[in-house]
Amino acid sequence: MYRSHTCGELNKNHINQTVTLAGWVSRRRDHGGVIFIDLRDQYGLTQIVFNPEFDQDYYDLAKSLRSEFVIKVTGKVFERPDDSHNSELSTGDIEVYVSQLEVLNSALTPPFEIDDNVQVNDEIRLKYRYLDLRRNKLHEDIRTRGRITSIVRHYLENVGFTEIETPVLMKSTPEGARDFLVPSRNFAGKFYALPQSPQTYKQLLMIAGFDKYFQIVKCFRDEDLRKDRQPEFTQIDIEMSFVDEEGVMNVAAGLTAHLFKEILDIDLQTPFKTISYAEAVETYGSDKPDLRFDLKLKTVSEIFRNTGFNAFRDVLEKEGRVALLVVPAEHNVTRKQIDQLVEHAKKFGARGMAYCKVVAGGLQTGVAKFISEAEQKELIEKLSLKENDILLIVADRYDITYAALGAVRLKLAEDLGLIDEKRHEVFWVVDFPLLEYNEEEKRYVARHHPFTSPKLEQLSSFGDHPEKALARAYDLVWNGNEIAGGSIRIHSNEVQQKVFDMLNIGEEEANAKFGFLLDALKYGAPPHGGIAFGLDRLVMLLTGNESIREVIAFPKTSSGLSLMDNAPSEVDEDQLKELHIRLRT
Ligand code: AMO
Repeated sequence: MYRSHTCGELNKNHINQTVTLAGWVSRRRDHGGVIFIDLRDQYGLTQIVFNPEFDQDYYDLAKSLRSEFVIKVTGKVFERPDDSHNSELSTGDIEVYVSQLEVLNSALTPPFEIDDNVQVNDEIRLKYRYLDLRRNKLHEDIRTRGRITSIVRHYLENVGFTEIETPVLMKSTPEGARDFLVPSRNFAGKFYALPQSPQTYKQLLMIAGFDKYFQIVKCFRDEDLRKDRQPEFTQIDIEMSFVDEEGVMNVAAGLTAHLFKEILDIDLQTPFKTISYAEAVETYGSDKPDLRFDLKLKTVSEIFRNTGFNAFRDVLEKEGRVALLVVPAEHNVTRKQIDQLVEHAKKFGARGMAYCKVVAGGLQTGVAKFISEAEQKELIEKLSLKENDILLIVADRYDITYAALGAVRLKLAEDLGLIDEKRHEVFWVVDFPLLEYNEEEKRYVARHHPFTSPKLEQLSSFGDHPEKALARAYDLVWNGNEIAGGSIRIHSNEVQQKVFDMLNIGEEEANAKFGFLLDALKYGAPPHGGIAFGLDRLVMLLTGNESIREVIAFPKTSSGLSLMDNAPSEVDEDQLKELHIRLRT
């Protein structure tokens, strides 16, 4: 027997009992001929005491113990002396006087102390991830992740969903990001792809008559990584038959509210509020806005419809937008802060950001001299401006104007401490454009994926105005993070063909890429729709972390490396030969 109790279990009720514990040496203190060790396992810390008066041999052996040695001890539980109780530990009232010690394993000196309060650089943490994972906060968050997946499973099973696994080796069907490819040994020159998501499979499962499917599933995307993106990540993938938007959104909201209650003990009101994509972009400068603070963008193109200010006029003639953020006077932003915000706007593509200040009866400084008296008056009246308010103005292409101001809005909120960290804003963004123009490929591409249904009422007209077509898609946003996204799908072969036409995907290409799905749609596909949560992001937010790496046991760096095992790595020439591959470099 390795242990009778865990290191987090003993309390006053165990006094005088003889117990056996096993764990890691966390901290060792020598005090006047007595050695104290904090013995650690997953469940907590227990103070164990080696006293030469109790047992000289084990006391001597204890002197050789170092951090992270693995030991087994047997001893008697005592109440700690009055002045050394520790109310922060569940075992803080007791200590164990050791009468037997067995060293189960020694350990090299770890490259960092196994202590949450010690700052360790990210590379070292990832290289020695198994040691990093011993640290309390990360360890607990990974366990919470396990609890969350279990809660999700139970919840979805209780409301009638069936978990079904789908293949990891599949056909390459471009969905937006780049595929990870796996060469086939049996079929020279052919490749499997790893799924970017099980999107096509879950639609096929609906056609196969599985009414409500879910899967907690790995997805793979070879894309540029950010702090909320990994090349392999996990989705809670959901699909349902005979539903409209409301049906899917209700299940997703129910699951989210359930997780809030179980993990955070917060009651979220459902259904969640809904805002349109256009409103999100034009009011907050983002399709996943953070609504925990109030700053709103104002579009003022109309005020400048006849402007003599070239910079604005040129933009408006090209159907761009003039929009601004009002920084209220009470924030006293400095010139230096404004300069930093201008630089920030430029990072998001804006050529610049103009500013001016409201004074009695008009505007001053910056671009004020280019703005006519009438325009100044109209701005002040329409926006109810007060003296000393600062205006930050961007005039640019529609997307750039709002993206740049949206980024400035977020930076201002951080700089000025406007975000109430205790607030939770969870809501839907709907009415997304169906398509977006891809500058590189000079054609429209699906914004969500090519199986997303357009708004039915637009079906007959969207051919003329592809940019105006709206999708039956919805994203769930929590405090500025997109935690889930989904749509009602196309279930008719004709509509699917029409969308492929808009995407400039010819019949041959469509058949080559998605033939199996197009065929299946001809055999009685039910109306269906679904959604996928980014599990990593959801867990990150539920555990109060700022990066998904903190909730993934073995994450990759931002360039996709695994520093612990050095993947990706070179392979033997023989392996390449078997796969019919000759390297170009
Ligand atoms: P989508 O591409 O929006 O939809 O992905 C769904 C959710 O997955 C998360 N996510 C990521 N998380 C970490 N790293 C990444 N690289 C990453 N990419 C996406 C996000 C996102 O909201 N098949 C559709 C879903 C559907 O239509 O049902 C899909 O994959 O939180």
